[in-house]
Amino acid sequence: MHTISLTANPSAHISILAVPLIEGREKDLPVSDQENLISAYGVSAKQDSVTRVPSENGTLLIVGCGKQLNFRDFAATAVRASAKILNLAIDLTAATEDQLREAVEGAALGAQTPNTYKKSEVKLEQVELIVDPALVNLDIQPSISLAEHVIKARALINTPANDLWPDRLAQICQQTAEGTAVSVEVWDETRLEQENCGGILGVGRGSTRPPRLVKLSYQGGGKHLGLVGKGITFDTGGLSLKPAESMVGMKYDMAGAATVMAAIFAIEALKLPVTVTAILCLAENMPSGQATRPGDVLKMRNGKTVEVLNTDAEGRLVLGDGLTVLSELNPDHIVDVATLTGAATIALGNRYAGLMGRGEAITHVKQAAATAGELVWEMPLPEELRPLLDSDLADIANVKIGNRAGGMLIAGWFLSEFVPESASWAHLDIAGPANNDGAPYRSTPKGSSGVAIRTLVQFARDLAEN
Ligand code: BES
Ligand code: ZN
Ligand code: ZN
Repeated sequence: MHTISLTANPSAHISILAVPLIEGREKDLPVSDQENLISAYGVSAKQDSVTRVPSENGTLLIVGCGKQLNFRDFAATAVRASAKILNLAIDLTAATEDQLREAVEGAALGAQTPNTYKKSEVKLEQVELIVDPALVNLDIQPSISLAEHVIKARALINTPANDLWPDRLAQICQQTAEGTAVSVEVWDETRLEQENCGGILGVGRGSTRPPRLVKLSYQGGGKHLGLVGKGITFDTGGLSLKPAESMVGMKYDMAGAATVMAAIFAIEALKLPVTVTAILCLAENMPSGQATRPGDVLKMRNGKTVEVLNTDAEGRLVLGDGLTVLSELNPDHIVDVATLTGAATIALGNRYAGLMGRGEAITHVKQAAATAGELVWEMPLPEELRPLLDSDLADIANVKIGNRAGGMLIAGWFLSEFVPESASWAHLDIAGPANNDGAPYRSTPKGSSGVAIRTLVQFARDLAEN
């Protein structure tokens, strides 16, 4: 990645300066004869639009910021637009201390996601942030470190399933933990059997690559934040096979696991005075002669039996066990993160994560997301939907066959069976925003977004302060 530094005056060798343009504020641009330039170059203040125009001291990169200047988005867009040049300066002279931290995060998040399958065309080496002289000595390392964890998670999530399977991801956790204060415990299939994790085992049965549960712990003292992530390294749907088109992209189905992993390592790197446990529920959902069949009954770790009517609703099965393992540790708050339902994208589109749960955790997540600049939307768990999961054969069914109403909420109800009634619990369905099929926008690249990591880290920061 490019280096990022603060300075009051740009170095002489940097000839491109990125400046923000807010709608209706064209006169703030540092160019003479503006109107002419604006019409000649098609400069636009629209969010994410970028235009290069010559000026007295080199090239100006004019970044459209819409109605309101968000420094994280501005810096990210400037960096992304400059991938093919060597050096860039960004005008942040108007930023306050907090805004500067956001801008540093953005300047790092705008880097292209590393990809080992194709030669990189990125040339950008150096980004200088031009700041108020009073802020040149601000410690920007925490912001850079957070962004680096997000970028690593994006790369992991983008990795195709032929190169990433449950045990491989478990190994990556072990390697990542070396030299850090995060401890790692991996449960293989034998241990999962001993621990009665029938949900994770039931989902993993169809694959030649067995399931794993990874427990990451960081003891920073203070409040205990418990995290659970859905880690399906590929979701074919199992015997309830997905249609060809819907199966494309299902390598992203481990995004929840990568998110909680990145969050705990980032929290450790920041040395936040909180205790964090992250449980990764890892399995590959494949059809085979060994696979769980529609109609099979699984016995979960908390003793409840589940009639699996659709093997494609597998995320809730692995998370059920993960939530039980975590709840046994009695954390102060529980947050699970999962690409859980297609219904989440029908309800909320591709930019908002659905937020459900019980108790204080909901408010904490909403607040943290707002501070971190991520989009979450609270959804209800309506009472009348719960009976849809009643089963004649088992304690609960994993879906209601033929029902299409409220799919995201029903999944939320299913998960609630594995969280103690009194627990403070938030469930984030990131099926929509985890992956960006479209053009990059704000600080989000094409492909995996790394969404929710910053929200979780902010949640930990808020817990550390109160
Ligand atoms: N991994 C999918 C959810 C998903 C769909 C994520 C599209 C991202 C984009 C999940 O395991 C799944 O298949 N859910 C089913 C549930 C249904 C069978 C009740 C779905 O959403 O169709
Ligand atoms: Zn599925
Ligand atoms: Zn899935």
